[in-house]
Amino acid sequence: MRVWKRVEELSAGDIAQENITISSSGQPVVKVGQKIDHEIIDALRALGIKWLLVESKDTFESKIPKPETVEEMKADVKKLFDKVLLENKIDVDIVERSVQKLTEEIFENYGEYITPVMAIMKDLSEYTYTHEVNVSIITTLLAIEMGYSEDKVHEICTGALMHDVGKLKIPPEILDARRKLTDIEFSEIKKHVLYGREICENSGIKSVKILSAVEDHHEKIDGSGYLKGLKGQELSETAKMMAVADVYDALTSERPYKHAWSGYRAISYMLSLANVHFDIRVINALIRVFGLYPVGTKVLLSSGDEGTVVGMRKGYFSRLMVKLTNGEIVDLSEEKSILIQKVLSDEAR
Ligand SMILES: [Fe+2]
Repeated sequence: MRVWKRVEELSAGDIAQENITISSSGQPVVKVGQKIDHEIIDALRALGIKWLLVESKDTFESKIPKPETVEEMKADVKKLFDKVLLENKIDVDIVERSVQKLTEEIFENYGEYITPVMAIMKDLSEYTYTHEVNVSIITTLLAIEMGYSEDKVHEICTGALMHDVGKLKIPPEILDARRKLTDIEFSEIKKHVLYGREICENSGIKSVKILSAVEDHHEKIDGSGYLKGLKGQELSETAKMMAVADVYDALTSERPYKHAWSGYRAISYMLSLANVHFDIRVINALIRVFGLYPVGTKVLLSSGDEGTVVGMRKGYFSRLMVKLTNGEIVDLSEEKSILIQKVLSDEAR
């Protein structure tokens, strides 16, 4: 995108969108279309130039939602859950405020370049809060990609933010067990979807989409999910989106019984289960949101350079934006001769 940048904020790889010449000699320091490098930055500084108009591949402007919004949501969910523990009821005002801010921000900033931002779990005890927030972000992005209106996205996101609220009724020694669960314990865990529905109903929530997000997010299209074992078209579209968002975040998160998978590994695995566990249209939407090599994937390019995926231009889900080890950002949607040759690690995002 074209942006005015302070000279000290220029990155190697930005493309100048204006000519700067030394007035005494008429000598160009930088020309339209020229790639910015450290020599140019030094020359501009020496001349006392403060600002330059550039085409920038930096992705900070395309981060959705803003990292501070994500942190606020985490705090809101913690507050929300503390109240549910005390009152067995959801404070719908907190949910409404949080969902409104998130969906508005995502709709406003859903542009040509996207870098989805997820909540970071600082330790394992934060999982339930971070997971609720991340599933809401992912579901919102999926719903936008699948063409839902802002009102419907808002409703689906509300369900997502509360989808695991029923887990508050499951004893932590079962929920966080680092051992194989007994059949009785596992059937108790499965009931969190029912407990969640009860809590929602107890809070006066009647929306079919919200209730379906809470009750049906573990259903799979081959009928092997729980609690009802719904199959194919019996699953609501909300439940199908929830299933994908829930599993993607669970796989890419650190859990007591497994390390966090990379986004690349999670996408590849989930793609193999399209039409088995997941609806293929939702998996396609997931790929349009995260790309085949999600942000954080370390890659080797055919140019011989190594780098990390930092963002994606809409529609270019296999030709992403890669930050090289020297700090330069290569946009593979433009550099058509360069390919991603290899994924270098399965480390988490
Ligand atoms: Fe769940």
